[in-house]
Amino acid sequence: MKTLILNKENIYTGNLTLINAKNPLRNEKAASLIPADPSFPDILIQREAANILQFILDKISAENSIVPVSGYRSYAEQKYIYDESMRENGEEFTRRYVALPNHSEHQTGLAIDLGLNLPDIDFIRPEFPYEGICEKFRRTAPNYGFIERYSKDKEEITGISHEPWHFRYVGYPHSEIIAKKGFSLEEYILFIKFFRENGKYIFHGKNKTEIEIYYVPASNEKTELSLPESSAYQISGNNTDGFIVTVWRNI
Ligand code: DAL
Ligand code: ZN
Repeated sequence: MKTLILNKENIYTGNLTLINAKNPLRNEKAASLIPADPSFPDILIQREAANILQFILDKISAENSIVPVSGYRSYAEQKYIYDESMRENGEEFTRRYVALPNHSEHQTGLAIDLGLNLPDIDFIRPEFPYEGICEKFRRTAPNYGFIERYSKDKEEITGISHEPWHFRYVGYPHSEIIAKKGFSLEEYILFIKFFRENGKYIFHGKNKTEIEIYYVPASNEKTELSLPESSAYQISGNNTDGFIVTVWRNI
């Protein structure tokens, strides 16, 4: 086994950070950003998310029919969008569809708004219907790491109205578990807290792979983790109080 030491700041970074009205963005730096699509050099997301997005679009042959509309936003950009929407659309609309500055997961570089490639795409609410190529994307995305983040039946929990166009990268297999169980990200973060080092959640993947997932509460200053010497693993903060550890078991 090897030991890993995590700092308090690590709680606020990673694919599984939960950003919403109650949990602001705490980490100002978005990890390495690249264009979500090479044809749209100004729309950036985190590298891993961009690569997976391109992989999915390629797999379903959607490169020309689905386009990125909004990706990473700085605090200033989110504030501008919020203020402009307040002026143009009013408070009720804005509260439903635009997160407050510092409460938007667009500021992490892990969120992407996608639209059907039509003339005059609406920036805040692009068309992304539950049919055709968009639905194919929606169904395929969780197999590789993306989830539809703001579903109709979770409005009370997410605090954001139904957004068929907004996808969030959380990484695989979390995306598949979230989709299969019909969870919101808020529910998944709570669910995973029941699984600790002595009672891990076991995900049975393709080709008999087994993936262990568990929650480690953060200690006051440093948190010590023991991990198997030769297994692949990922660690993400949950942006509130601890870490979610994912270990690919060698079997
Ligand atoms: N439209 C989403 C909620 C955002 O502004 O982050
Ligand atoms: Zn969005």
